[in-house]
Amino acid sequence: MQFQGSDILTTKQFDREAVTIVFDLAKHFEKVLRGQEFLDLARGKILANLFYEPSTRTRFSFEVAMKKLGGDVITAVGEEYSSLRKGETLYDTGRVISQFAHVIAMRHAQPGSVSDLAQGATVPVLNAGDGPANHPTQGLLDLYTIWKQRGEIDGLRICMAGDLKNSRVQHSECDLLMHYRDVKFVFVSPQSLKMPTEIVANLRLKGFEISEMSNLSEAVSECDVISSSRIQIERFASMEEYNRNTGIFVIDPGVMAHVKKDAILLAPLPRIEEITREVDDDLRAKYFEQVKNGVPVRMALLALVLALKI
Ligand code: NCD
Repeated sequence: MQFQGSDILTTKQFDREAVTIVFDLAKHFEKVLRGQEFLDLARGKILANLFYEPSTRTRFSFEVAMKKLGGDVITAVGEEYSSLRKGETLYDTGRVISQFAHVIAMRHAQPGSVSDLAQGATVPVLNAGDGPANHPTQGLLDLYTIWKQRGEIDGLRICMAGDLKNSRVQHSECDLLMHYRDVKFVFVSPQSLKMPTEIVANLRLKGFEISEMSNLSEAVSECDVISSSRIQIERFASMEEYNRNTGIFVIDPGVMAHVKKDAILLAPLPRIEEITREVDDDLRAKYFEQVKNGVPVRMALLALVLALKI
């Protein structure tokens, strides 16, 4: 995979070698940042953060990453900035923002929207989440957290619990995990929020073992990594439908009692009610460290697409 000048639109672009390049560089940044708060690698470079769908973590994480590289950030947040409001196409918005910035990070509610903007942009565009479709930088930082915590990814048994239909994060995690050997998947979700059939079929085609379970305690007891997602309220047509699907699978100390001693619990956050607050003190709960890992991983991606001299 060629990074320099490239868009990062989907985890499907990555092979194992490309993931390793990102991880090694992220590790490097973590090390150098221990002795130094800010680097000087991206001086004079500007990141445009376009967040047309709500975000706190991902937007701040991109912003901090660019600032730690020594660059600057301009930001548009909220739908009122959306090109759709005045009728500008995403293609044109991409072309326009490219006149101001050297790289763009964008979130939008429509699948494929970030690619539309990237068509018009003349600078690299990083997908910060396009509807339920993809969230490549989050997928990478989740795997980075697993890699750091467990030392390796091959051979792991992973439980994915929550809104598997709509979680772009878990979709991206699946794309990346396909590059590792003997990974076993255990899926737990409400009946109407199962992992999309294309993803399941693709995993099976590649020879991965998948089980779908309905008992959360039983499912987690077999796994080394538990990846939890909230029920994605913004993807439901009505509150009734949302309410029918919440509170079914909740990770609390009772469920944690079934989790292996050396397993880890991940969640991209926000957490609503799928993980109770008491679990935060459990040493296996790694979601706050996971948030922190977003900075070195996004620094690595920015440095690679901008071809910064490390
Ligand atoms: C995730 C997202 O936006 O998809 N959050 C994030 O980027 N940290 C997960 C979510 O919103 O549930």
